[in-house]
Amino acid sequence: MKNFFSVADVDNLDSIVKEALELKANPHVNETLGKYKTLGLVFLNPSLRTRISTQKAATNLGMTVMVMNMDKDGWALETQDGVVMNGTTVEHIREAAAVMGEYCDILGLRSFPSLKDKEADYNEDLFNKFIEFCGVPVVSLESATRHPLQSLTDLITITEYKKTIKPKVVLAWAPHVKALPQAVPNSFAEWMCKAQAENLLEFTIAHPAGYELNEDFTEGATIIPNLKEALADADFVYVKNWSSYKEYGEVYPVDENWMMDNAKLALTNDAKIMHCLPVRRDLELSSEILDGPNSLVIKEASNRVWAAQVVLKRILENLK
Ligand code: CP
Repeated sequence: MKNFFSVADVDNLDSIVKEALELKANPHVNETLGKYKTLGLVFLNPSLRTRISTQKAATNLGMTVMVMNMDKDGWALETQDGVVMNGTTVEHIREAAAVMGEYCDILGLRSFPSLKDKEADYNEDLFNKFIEFCGVPVVSLESATRHPLQSLTDLITITEYKKTIKPKVVLAWAPHVKALPQAVPNSFAEWMCKAQAENLLEFTIAHPAGYELNEDFTEGATIIPNLKEALADADFVYVKNWSSYKEYGEVYPVDENWMMDNAKLALTNDAKIMHCLPVRRDLELSSEILDGPNSLVIKEASNRVWAAQVVLKRILENLK
């Protein structure tokens, strides 16, 4: 593996999940693989889970980790070429990325979308520039359109907790007070569609009208505009809000109640409930579910370490 940006960077899902679960059973088996190698984690946006789980994974592999919070501690970045930098930006991404590539063997980058410029966001302009200019392998810590470490974690968690060979997995839109990116649901859909193609599960997406995801991410999924109908026989429900892709970044009012609660849980096959976190209690997902036996959210967050560790391990093996 050279970079980790999407499901396209993984040839076989079953095999990477098995390798991640082996690392979970024996976290320090590769404790010298990353000796004298440095991982730089660059955050343009906040993070709890991605930051700490990736640090822990790198430490398990013997790496040194440096964290750069560009949003708070770095110079204001200019990302466009041909700009006379006489405004608020102080350092061009060409120099900033190249310098970080000099200090690190692998870089991780978190960069959320603007939710204003659909073309720039979906072209992954900033992420692609960072990869081009830094000159070392790059791991996505969530980009404008995808969150692959989260999606790999989710597949690991589904594999661990499934009770049938081909569980029914439902991605369920949920309410929110803010316009959120499509990165997590895009990525989850992309990974689940590939898992479905590999006969690992069956995948359904439920969302109200107006919240259709970009079709590039949902090929093969069953898409239903009715939550209760989608929940029938579900083994896993992945709860997540996202803003509109079509009317980019817009939030439409939704009359029906789309919050997942115990009444809706009763419609499922005693489904396990997942969410990438952070979650807004009793807005996206009810407290009764979060505090109840069907919630997998903490186990899921815990598995972030093994997703990061298997990805870093594969990139380190490719460096040698
Ligand atoms: N799920 C997730 O990526 O969490 P953080 O934003 O806290 O890293």
